[in-house]
Amino acid sequence: MTLTSLAQASYVVAAVLFVLSLAGLSKQETARRGNLLGMAGMVLALAATVILALDQSERSVLVTALLIAMVFAIGAGFGIWRARTVEMTQMPELIAILHSFVGLAAVLVGFNSHLTEHGDAIHQVEVFLGVFIGAVTFTGSIVAFLKLSARMKSRPLTLPGRNLLNLGAVVASAGLLGWYIATDSLLPLGIMTAIALLLGFHLVAAIGGGDMPVVVSMLNSYSGWAAAAAGLMLSNDLLIVTGALVGSSGAILSYLMCKAMNRAFLSVILGGFGAEGGTASSAGEQGEHREVLAPEVAETLAGASSVIIVPGYGMAVAQAQHAVRELADLIEANGAEVSFAIHPVAGRMPGHMNVLLAEANVPYDKLVEMDDINQTIDTVDACIVIGANDVVNPAAREDEGSPIYGMPIIEADRARNVFVLKRSMASGFAGIPNPLFYRSNTRMVFGDAKETIEILVEEFKD
Ligand code: TAP
Repeated sequence: MTLTSLAQASYVVAAVLFVLSLAGLSKQETARRGNLLGMAGMVLALAATVILALDQSERSVLVTALLIAMVFAIGAGFGIWRARTVEMTQMPELIAILHSFVGLAAVLVGFNSHLTEHGDAIHQVEVFLGVFIGAVTFTGSIVAFLKLSARMKSRPLTLPGRNLLNLGAVVASAGLLGWYIATDSLLPLGIMTAIALLLGFHLVAAIGGGDMPVVVSMLNSYSGWAAAAAGLMLSNDLLIVTGALVGSSGAILSYLMCKAMNRAFLSVILGGFGAEGGTASSAGEQGEHREVLAPEVAETLAGASSVIIVPGYGMAVAQAQHAVRELADLIEANGAEVSFAIHPVAGRMPGHMNVLLAEANVPYDKLVEMDDINQTIDTVDACIVIGANDVVNPAAREDEGSPIYGMPIIEADRARNVFVLKRSMASGFAGIPNPLFYRSNTRMVFGDAKETIEILVEEFKD
């Protein structure tokens, strides 16, 4: 068996491992195994690629090995440093910036391919599409990174005739493709790259805060297609398979998230949805909120026979998950039934709450999905909302003018007693007021979520 066929065989095994990894990641119970399979696949893929590169290189083996080692050191060094230092709450922006690298790689591979190889029209289309998708992904992901890390306003950029601008960019690129195929010249490729970079910027800049979760998974999908295009240009089968897997799973995730937010996929892509607009009334018009201290909450919880905990982004900020688990155990030991209500877009990334609660060893069967919990929520004695805001906002159900109208929510307002643990009356990610805070069955418990829960734990122990 030659080295090349050994590497090809390893690619097939790696592709199978990636498919098994995705299957594992689709369920909480098997997610760890899925991650391990994916990592094993990637190690195999990298080893096979290095063997291929050493075998096929026109340079000496030593020089090639040195070049690869240098690139590895830079990439792995950066990756290890970021993975160790990133906060859980910064994960979405890290993912966004990583997508931009994939986009940039596709652009560079495309230009390299144009400059070094002169293939037929099919090869030219591969190069052109690879650079186009890569450039859109590159700037789009940078804008997503800037918005998610609050370095850029999350308000949508609404240029007049923005849909026409996008359409114009696509039509112009199609024309440039014809020119490129006819002449094989660098100029149309360069002009299209500039247009695609602007298009990526504009597409994501036009999307408001509320739709950013979908955008991140959509860019995830784009980065997969960009990688697949790079695979075609490099004639690397594994990159094609992996890119297609990432592209299609990202598209499925985007669809599921759109469903969870009751948004049409096309209207998310076309943008213009944001925090402002709508008739959501301001805090002043909502009446008075009522505030209680932790000991009073503990009293109600002690008398409850059913309790629902709704975690949100604030639980991640406060890192309250371990204290929350301790509290849940104490309430259960007191004879009440406790469950965790999980909204699909609570937090800042898909599965954010599941990951935090798994870290605190909350049993999976205690986690209940939104639709199931809503069916019984009006029979619940106490609902503790921990750092969640948009995902429990009844305006989504009641106020047709609200920017989040139609988004499914956990209907915490229907519980007998609602305790909202947060630091102030401030709005959540979507930037809109929350009428839940002013309901007669709601009590606000101000303070850092972890500190409040720790006081509750102490109260329960006494
Ligand atoms: P949010 O609506 O963002 O509300 C979080 C709340 O947590 C804030 O109102 C904040 O109020 C409170 N908070 C922050 N730090 C806290 C602390 N240390 N202790 C106690 N409370 C704290 O969160 P959500 O309800 O989870 O909704 C998620 C939102 O993010 C949705 O709009 C969703 O579309 C969006 N989003 C989701 C994702 C994904 S994929 N899940 C990605 C990006 C964006 P105070 O400042 O008053 O404390």
